[in-house]
This record gives sequence, structure tokens and C-alpha cells, in this order.
Amino acid sequence: MLRIVVCIALATAFFACGRQDEWLPPQDRQVPHLPAIPYDYTNVVLPEHFLEPALGFFEYVPASNTTTDEGATLGRVLFYDKLLSASGTVSCASCHRQPSGFADPKPGSKGHAGGITPRNASHLVNLRYNFQLFWDLRANGLENQVLVPVQDVLEMGLTLDQLIERVSNAAYYPALFESAFGDPAVSADRIARALSQFIRSIISFQTRYDQGVANGFSDFTASETLGMQLFYNGITRCNQCHMTHNFYSPDAFNNGLDTVYADAGLGALTGEPADMGKFKVPSLRNVALSAPYMHDGRFATLEEVIAHYNGGVQPHPFLDERLTAEMETGGTPYALGLTADEQTALVDFLKTLTDEGLVSDVRFSDPFTGQ
Ligand code: HEC
Ligand code: HEC
Repeated sequence: MLRIVVCIALATAFFACGRQDEWLPPQDRQVPHLPAIPYDYTNVVLPEHFLEPALGFFEYVPASNTTTDEGATLGRVLFYDKLLSASGTVSCASCHRQPSGFADPKPGSKGHAGGITPRNASHLVNLRYNFQLFWDLRANGLENQVLVPVQDVLEMGLTLDQLIERVSNAAYYPALFESAFGDPAVSADRIARALSQFIRSIISFQTRYDQGVANGFSDFTASETLGMQLFYNGITRCNQCHMTHNFYSPDAFNNGLDTVYADAGLGALTGEPADMGKFKVPSLRNVALSAPYMHDGRFATLEEVIAHYNGGVQPHPFLDERLTAEMETGGTPYALGLTADEQTALVDFLKTLTDEGLVSDVRFSDPFTGQ
């Protein structure tokens, strides 16, 4: 009763009684350090093979939110700003780390109040080629996805009103919103658009594999060449799910991790038996940086992943046909029987997909450091 009375009294001063944002930024909070002329996020010349029809078909850049250098710059600041979490301790980048290819090196990520996420944080590379996001594909389009973690009670724990209030009150944002959108008004829609522009500009296309596509793989080692042949040889069927030069699929599949899934992925969402254990096929670009692997981060190394495909695939009733001996959904898991050298070769090939430049690219780095 007393609480209600106090609340009503306070409500005269604060219109959102009980939902007041109690966390205030420390006085000595860092400010972002930005270049006088924004970095170039827009004049990116993609190699020829990135213009393949399959990638173009799945590319999703809404006409209402094409990327500008100023928009992506604002997105970069928001991405690294701990103001975006209730306790002020977590930013998007706390779980999506640049040195790890924008993934988290831990199987579960620590949220704003210390809780651990049940799933492994996805990497954020080449998401411009994805419309459906999250491991269970539950979000459509980045603009709709990026405000989900902000409002997630475990991850960042803010309401949209609190988010807008905090961003509006930080001294460095008005000028950034003005540059990006023409006036300093802060809205959830603008925050979502800027974050999406930033994430869409994280494109990875400068790897030894990409050089190889251009020069006929002339500098691949014998093991890398063998690994590439195995990846594409129709026996491992790796490339039938990890497709295109982005090594991914816009669909979700069951790759036989368990006979009964604790987390049913797409199936938990749709309730359809045939969707049980289906998860997004992440791009394998930078996969050597983004350990641990799978939706729950169960495999610590690429060697463990290959061992899974080689002989550890489980007989799930809806195991994807490509991982079965009979090529029938739910069939007998296909034991690849690769030699130790062949398994190493597959790992060596996957390592050619690492884009060293991306992890040190200043355009995607933390603007709050170095102050
Ligand atoms: C506490 C850790 C944490 C924070 C903070 C966090 N994320 Fe995530 N993020 C995750 C996890 C875990 C997943 C996978 C969740 C799932 O699929 O159910 C994920 C998934 C994503 C995806 C989907 C990628 C894909 O390939 O489908 C995007 C995009 C994303 N996060 C962007 C962001 C942005 C933008 C922010 C900041 C506004 C943010 N995240 C903050 C942990 C975090
Ligand atoms: C039936 C489709 C399918 C086939 C065939 C397949 N994969 Fe996968 N792959 C997936 C799915 C789905 C996931 C994510 C599963 C999950 O997290 O629950 C995945 C995950 C991975 C990952 C972990 C990625 C990450 O970021 O966590 C690697 C590495 C990988 N696969 C490599 C391979 C290799 C190498 C082959 C061939 C030996 C192969 N895959 C064959 C569907 C497939």
C-alpha cells in the first residue's frame, strides 16, 4: 500500500512511475572517438564471384534503408555502446566480438545482469545475404531483429522507451543522428536502421579462398586442395547445405547432433515434428575464428565438428537426407569414414575462409577505446 502511495506521489514528478530507468551513466563515461570524415562503408567493390545469382537472390537490403557512411557510423557507435543495456555493462559487441568474427568465444554469452544465454551468439558476417535471422530463423530482416536483444530480459533488458531516453540524453548522439538522418530526432526505428546499416556493411570477401577463386587456387597447399575436393565431392555433401561462395543456406536443417534435442530450434517455434532439431546453417566464413560451434557451442574445435560429420551423426527421426546412407529423411546416419589426413584436410580448407583484415578493420572496431 505504502509503495502505491509513494508511487502515485512520485508519478507527479516522473510520468513513468515504477518503470523509471534507475541506471545513470557515470560522469566520466567515455565518448566515441570518430574520424572527421566518416569511414567508407559504401564504396565496397565486391569480387566477381560475389555477384553470383544465388547470393544476389538472397541478398536483403530494403529500399527504405540503404546504407550511408553516416548511418553505418551511427550504427557502429550504438553497437559498441554499453548504454544500450540496463546495467550499463553490456553492448552488442560484448557478445559479438570483432576478434572472434563477431561471435562469442564462450558457448553461452553473459547478459546485462550476469545471466547466460542458452544459445551460442551467432557471428554477424555477411548477414546482408540473410533475411531470416536467429538459429531458429524467427526474425525477419535485420531492421526487425536488432531491437530484440535490447529488449531481451537476459541480454540487455531495456524497454524501447528507456532505450530512446538514454540515447537522447547522451551528449554525442544528436550530431550523429543529424548526420545520418537529417535531424537529431531519436527513435527506435532510426536506431534499428543505423544498427542494420552497420551490420550489413560487415562483408567478408578477402580470404585465401577468395584469392584462390581468382587465381585457380594455385597457392593452396596439398592439404587445403584435398580438403576443398572433399568439401565439394558429393560424398561428404558439405556444399549441399553450406552453399554458394558464402557457404551457408537460408534454410534450417537437422544435422544430427542429437537423437532428442533439448533445444528443438525451428521445431520449438512451429511445433511441427518435421522441424525438430532444425537450425540455421551459418556461413562458414571466418569459422576458424568463431569457435565454439553449433547453436549451443558444444564443439570447441573444428576437428570436433569434422569428427561429428565423420562418424558422430545421430539417428534422429528427421535427420536431413543428405546425412543419411539411403538419402532419405530419418535414414541411417552416413558414416563418412574419412582418414585422419582427410579430416585434417577439411579443417585446413575451412581455415582458408578466414578474413584476417576483417578482425582488424577499424571501420568495425570499438570507437569508445583509446580515449
Ligand atoms: C548477451 C549477449 C548478446 C548481446 C548483448 C547481443 N546479442 Fe546478438 N545474439 C546473441 C545470441 C545468443 C544470439 C543467438 C540467439 C538465437 O538464435 O536464439 C544472437 C543473435 C544475433 C543475431 C542473429 C544472427 C544470425 O545469423 O541469425 C543478430 C543480427 C544479432 N544477434 C545482433 C545483435 C545486436 C545488434 C545487438 C545489440 C543491439 C546484440 N545482438 C546484442 C547474444 C547477444
Ligand atoms: C544437412 C545439411 C548439412 C550438411 C550436409 C553439412 N552441414 Fe554443417 N551445418 C549444418 C547445420 C544445420 C549447422 C548448424 C547446426 C546447429 O547449430 O544445430 C551446421 C554447422 C556447421 C558448422 C558449425 C558452424 C558454426 O558457426 O557453429 C561447421 C563448421 C560445419 N557445419 C561444417 C560442415 C562440413 C565440413 C560438412 C561436411 C563434412 C557439413 N558441415 C555438412 C548443416 C549441414
